[in-house]
Amino acid sequence: MTRYPDIATWLLLLALAPIRGLCLVALSHGWQPYEHLPEDEQLVLQRPPSDSSAATRPSAPYALPFPSRPGSRPSGFIALGDSYSAGIGTGLVNGTEDDCRRGANAYPVLVQRDLNRSRDGGDDPTFQFLSCTGSTVGDMLAGAEHSQIDGFNTTSTADFALLSIGGNDLGFFDIMNSCIFRFYSFYSGTCETALCHADEQMASSDFENRLRLAIMEILDRVRWEKRPWFTITVTGYARFFNADTDECDDYSFGMWWRGPKLERKLRQRMNDMVVDVNNKIRHSVDVINAAFAEPRVLFVDYDDAFEGHRFCEPGVVEPDYARNETWFFLVGGLDNNPSAEKPVLGAQYALLPPESPLIDPENCLEPAQTSGDWGELALCMMAMAAERDPMLRKADGRVVAENSMCGVLATWQ
Ligand SMILES: *[C@@H]1O[C@H](CO)[C@@H](O)[C@H](O)[C@H]1NC(C)=O
Ligand SMILES: *[C@@H]1O[C@H](CO)[C@@H](O)[C@H](O)[C@H]1NC(C)=O
Ligand SMILES: *[C@@H]1O[C@H](CO)[C@@H](O)[C@H](O)[C@H]1NC(C)=O
Ligand SMILES: *[C@@H]1O[C@H](CO)[C@@H](O)[C@H](O)[C@H]1NC(C)=O
Repeated sequence: MTRYPDIATWLLLLALAPIRGLCLVALSHGWQPYEHLPEDEQLVLQRPPSDSSAATRPSAPYALPFPSRPGSRPSGFIALGDSYSAGIGTGLVNGTEDDCRRGANAYPVLVQRDLNRSRDGGDDPTFQFLSCTGSTVGDMLAGAEHSQIDGFNTTSTADFALLSIGGNDLGFFDIMNSCIFRFYSFYSGTCETALCHADEQMASSDFENRLRLAIMEILDRVRWEKRPWFTITVTGYARFFNADTDECDDYSFGMWWRGPKLERKLRQRMNDMVVDVNNKIRHSVDVINAAFAEPRVLFVDYDDAFEGHRFCEPGVVEPDYARNETWFFLVGGLDNNPSAEKPVLGAQYALLPPESPLIDPENCLEPAQTSGDWGELALCMMAMAAERDPMLRKADGRVVAENSMCGVLATWQ
């Protein structure tokens, strides 16, 4: 299918941009903290010797940020999982986006940059970036059509893996769609159904079993027995909302006129879901580690770092497309790319040709569902909603029929 790179910059949902100063600080016992440092600083892995005549670079053996081969730096790593590690919305790579919507400032890329900068004259670490927006556990597993686990090159060195997975298995898209955005208007399904579905998934043992299977498949494929230093760092998810602010009770992210309000109860419920997923992931990781003599998997809960950077923060009028302190990407919002010369503007400049298969209401749904891409699904559902109901009014009150669908989408903000 032909891709239209422009739309990728704008119609992507809440993928996250854990950038600018967000530190993945892992302080589990026996593991060294890792911090992403700004561009002009050396990644200091160990306090430099107090003797000021000594070299400023730390000398081996390093106190390595990740458990790793004793006495040597990580020489390579892989990143797998969903949009949270693909880094959707963190800036375009070479002005465009691949099918997996990997971003220029995705956290694995920041890790690579840090390792590059602190390599001490050795070879650059190898990096295999396999994360893919929309990916579920099932998509990753060995044997799946685009299996990330089958896809990584085991000949190339990898001393650790970064992994984000699970959210799409719980129907994060359906929840966002039915409770918050309602892309498909009346046909979006009820919020309650989507939330119950996620609760059911989490209550069954299947979710954790599959998660553990994915982690074990990664360990097996790298042959961990031969690489006892190999570890997997699994990230969780961040709560989307500040659930305390009153003013947000009246705001809406709805795509259409009179969309659902962001009431505290809803915000709290969605946040609870995120906390539940994190607990499930943490538990799965604990179970795996318990089976090994030494921990192999590290769960990183970075949710606290998002304090002040969620939706509905005090004084923010949602939807605030330009608030770069919100670390989630918003429909029609800007890419959150600190190194871009100017912000990449979304909707106003994104023109989809009317013949784009992405907004062909008759045929877009199946390919969008197959790709699992939230942006594509959202676009298609809006096109379908507009076709089914030409009198539908956009969130700002304008009637769809006043413009072509193409015009509607192009001036979404
Ligand atoms: C970006 O473009 C340059 C020049 O065409 C190319 O060498 C490089 O491989 C591209 N980078 C990526 C990540 O595709
Ligand atoms: C790391 O170094 C390699 C090789 O020099 C380079 O291709 C890559 O772009 C660098 N990555 C980052 C994120 O700086
Ligand atoms: C896998 O990595 C090795 C070592 O880096 C390289 O020589 C080989 O070409 C890679 N294979 C593929 C299929 O990319
Ligand atoms: C973030 O937004 C503020 C206020 O709009 C602006 O002054 C600042 O330059 C922005 N920062 C970046 C990195 O885009």
